[in-house]
Amino acid sequence: MPSSESWNSEGLPGWSYRSERILELEKERVFLTHWHVVGHANDIPEPGDWLSFDLLGERALVIRGKDGTIRAFQNTCRHRGSRLVEGDKGHCRGALLCPFHAWVYTLEGQLKTPSQPDKFPALDPSEWSLQVLDLEEWRGFLFLRFEPGPQGSVASLMARHEKELEIYPLETLQPASGFYTSPIQEVNWKAMVDVDNECYHCPSAHPGLTDLYGKGYEEGPWLDGTHRIRGPFNQTPSRQELNKRYRALVEQHPSPFSALPQAWLYIGLFPSSVLVFYPESAGFYRSIPLNTTQSVMNGADYSYANESESMKQARDIATDINDIVLKEDKHICALHYQATASKYWHQGYFGDSEKALREHHDKLRSLIPELEGNRI
Ligand code: FES
Ligand SMILES: [Fe+2]
Repeated sequence: MPSSESWNSEGLPGWSYRSERILELEKERVFLTHWHVVGHANDIPEPGDWLSFDLLGERALVIRGKDGTIRAFQNTCRHRGSRLVEGDKGHCRGALLCPFHAWVYTLEGQLKTPSQPDKFPALDPSEWSLQVLDLEEWRGFLFLRFEPGPQGSVASLMARHEKELEIYPLETLQPASGFYTSPIQEVNWKAMVDVDNECYHCPSAHPGLTDLYGKGYEEGPWLDGTHRIRGPFNQTPSRQELNKRYRALVEQHPSPFSALPQAWLYIGLFPSSVLVFYPESAGFYRSIPLNTTQSVMNGADYSYANESESMKQARDIATDINDIVLKEDKHICALHYQATASKYWHQGYFGDSEKALREHHDKLRSLIPELEGNRI
């Protein structure tokens, strides 16, 4: 029976997926001013432990100070702008030492001394310390933004999910396989997020996932900057070998994990972060633009402290399942994205089960009214 709902179901114009100017506006009004998940406090348990986050030419450094506090800074030396730390994660002993000319900063971001200080006038540390960024820890996960913006605190955004997530001991998560990055995908970041914002494609594109949780899939609206998707495992037994083995292991998880819902739960945070919660582990991923036509998906997985053998094995199988899903998504994403190069294709037309996708587009339209105008 045709849907009786009436709502504006037009997607963003195809040209906006290839416009340099739109990406500049997205950088200013979306990416720099909104929160991004960057890791977990247990990624950097010791003073001097750090992790980094790069986004559209900007770069951040998150480091634990000697006082135990985690802070975020521009990963940029105040002297000539060198990157202070290189790589995803690491540790510096006692102080941050710039690799270029060896200026030294404390683990709390204060300029200690330029090297060869007689070559400079006295530099006031209050003026020459590292530039601070907003950082917020929520249930162990770390979020940062490069500039204050229209979003409230992460805690306020996550408030509507708190009850559901209460049962997950997120503070105890430990890094599992570390940070990962997908190969570069030849798509605009919005195409990546679009695929992630609906499961209308799941029956046709993800037979494995459909066999795991396809029947009772729930997707809520984008509401106050977050989005919820939940896939409770099918009531009927799975048929695919990987899913059968996975579900048999989940049945063996010890308390308190045996009480966690047998479901995969995803909470999206505008613009492009997603937290994922499994019965044995948790993690996050983000769609990150490199330029208008190239993006990557990167993230990290975490295990619970003292995980059982069933949890460890289930975590490995969940990774295998997700590897397949990622490949399937990558394929359909490219098929869709290629249309944005055509002069004959203008925009998507969404059905009721793609409403969250439409809401994500609406949010972008409200921040970037230029998306409603002519091609720029
Ligand atoms: S750029 Fe860092 S010390 Fe020169
Ligand atoms: Fe998908």
